[in-house]
Amino acid sequence: MRARSSRVTFRRMDELDLAGKRLLIREDLNVPIADGAVANDARIAAALPTLKAALGQGARVVLLSHLGRPREGEFDPAFSLSPVAERLSEMLGEAVPLLRDLQAAETTDARIALLENVRFLEGEKANDESLSRRLAGLADIFVMDAFATAHRAQASTHGVARFACLACAGPLLANELDALGRALDNPRRPLLAIVGGSKVSTKLSVLDKLASLADGVIVGGGIANTFIAAAGYTTGRSLVEANLLDVAAGLADRARIPLPVDVMVGKRIDENETAIVRALDQVAADEMILDIGPETARRWKALLADAGTILWNGPVGVFEYDQFGEGTRVLAEGVAESGAFSVAGGGDTLAAIDKYGVRDGISYISTGGGAFLEFVEGKTLPAVAVLQDRLRN
Ligand code: 3PG
Repeated sequence: MRARSSRVTFRRMDELDLAGKRLLIREDLNVPIADGAVANDARIAAALPTLKAALGQGARVVLLSHLGRPREGEFDPAFSLSPVAERLSEMLGEAVPLLRDLQAAETTDARIALLENVRFLEGEKANDESLSRRLAGLADIFVMDAFATAHRAQASTHGVARFACLACAGPLLANELDALGRALDNPRRPLLAIVGGSKVSTKLSVLDKLASLADGVIVGGGIANTFIAAAGYTTGRSLVEANLLDVAAGLADRARIPLPVDVMVGKRIDENETAIVRALDQVAADEMILDIGPETARRWKALLADAGTILWNGPVGVFEYDQFGEGTRVLAEGVAESGAFSVAGGGDTLAAIDKYGVRDGISYISTGGGAFLEFVEGKTLPAVAVLQDRLRN
């Protein structure tokens, strides 16, 4: 019953006999919804193998997920999982009824059914004991498979695992932990990280961790601007966190963070704005840095080619607009073409991977955003820790 990931020991679903059992599976089906339909089904697709394995073994399944951040204790159609149930039914090839409330979940005889958004339930966020016990009572086995929500200690991710007859990790969660563990615990060197996004402040802890762990950290997007300003360059009207210049300078001393040699600038963040190449020391006072330049992209792609392991979180430019997306495209291709073991995570990163069609070249694509970062930071994920505890008691 025991299995090792590189960091944790817990029961795994694929080691249990599931025939005739009722399973309560927590997935993260928190997907973007547009005009009442699922706009990106990547997280649903990632959960499918777990669901198929459980059903294939003759288990019956009640599925849990949250969607967005609704107000607790009241139903709000804007946060209903109804579009998710519809899309999941199509992808699974069988009906997945949506259960309105816990009472319906207690009495359903469906082979597989999805409980309405767990964040409508009073006590979910506070990890309330009576809600956790009631959820645990729905099944013989609780399967935690929602890596992307494993950093939340809530009733459907943590409390339920404490009170379930048997609690285990689903294949998706276990695979995520194995892949991230492989990239971080004993990485093939050199380990290169790409950390992009808009603000240093949101990635401070991860950058701090990577400063001691990685052999090089490529920073991009708004984050890079703060490092560029800290190195004494003019950044014009670029997004810079002036209060973090000292912190950035300190990180730059500790980590190997290359500065770009050229950048793409514009005067406005707009789809019709023309992108202009500038040497790093030529940015004008009324310009904004919106991407790395072509020479920088070429050099950094060469670094990626020689990497043993690559960890990628965040784009290096405003890639939503093609003229400021070249840096992200070249690096995405660099990651995909490198022989390195590569792990990518985060919503924008996944959007870039899809935009530039490099999915097949990435070794592991994580479903996690916040959970991915917290794992890299070395934090304990409470929903994983409780599975470890359940091996002991
Ligand atoms: C995510 O999208 O990162 C997860 O689903 C967690 O969502 P939350 O930040 O609302 O808890």
